[in-house]
Amino acid sequence: MRFHVLTLFPDMIINGMNTSITGRAMERGLIGLDAVDIRDYADNKHMRVDDYPYGGGAGMVMQAEPVYRAFEAVKTRISRPVRVVYLTPQGRVFNQELAEELAREEELVFLCGHYEGIDERVLEEIVTDPVSIGDYVLTGGELPAMVMMDAISRLVPGVLNNEESAVGESFQGNLLEYPQYSRPAVWREKEVPEVLLSGHHANVERWRREQSVLRTAMWRPDLLKKAALTPKEQEMINMVNK
Ligand code: ADE
Repeated sequence: MRFHVLTLFPDMIINGMNTSITGRAMERGLIGLDAVDIRDYADNKHMRVDDYPYGGGAGMVMQAEPVYRAFEAVKTRISRPVRVVYLTPQGRVFNQELAEELAREEELVFLCGHYEGIDERVLEEIVTDPVSIGDYVLTGGELPAMVMMDAISRLVPGVLNNEESAVGESFQGNLLEYPQYSRPAVWREKEVPEVLLSGHHANVERWRREQSVLRTAMWRPDLLKKAALTPKEQEMINMVNK
């Protein structure tokens, strides 16, 4: 997977991605990162990339031409048509399903805006996927791009080792993950659920599944509608909700 990020703050992207699991994945060549400074494509000697909005109003707007030129430069390094994600609170809300879909691509372009946004005309020309990471407004698209790249990277084969495996975790099958415990078996008088100490694999699996269903019912009932539950599990939830 190779990420191309069009941004006014390439160092933020590089520093963020160089850390932890994504950093290791880049070292191992499983993930490539091409952070492109839009300012390098300014069309004036002052290297300005923003201007006042037509029609008035607060803030500045990123101009179309530098963004377009930066994208044209990136395109020369990509052989096929590529999805261009524009980070915006107006986009489709990012979730695990979209992460899985995007993880199947070989290359992705992320366009990060700042100020009051980007001239609509260049967005119309180049963006294929406007995406939001949630219903709140951030100062720019860099953090959302990093959130998306992190979620996508860990789905790329080889990025997680077996111990960190991406199976059975939250949102798989629209259920939250079951609770986890580690040593000691008693911590400040709180005991680890007994079934986990039993060594009985089938009972452990049954307990974990039940916990996933209960937890989702309690914390994210909106997800349950999309989860495939057995009639027994449905009955259990009806009891809890009474
Ligand atoms: N830019 C500013 N806020 C954002 C959000 N919530 N999601 C994606 N991009 C953004």
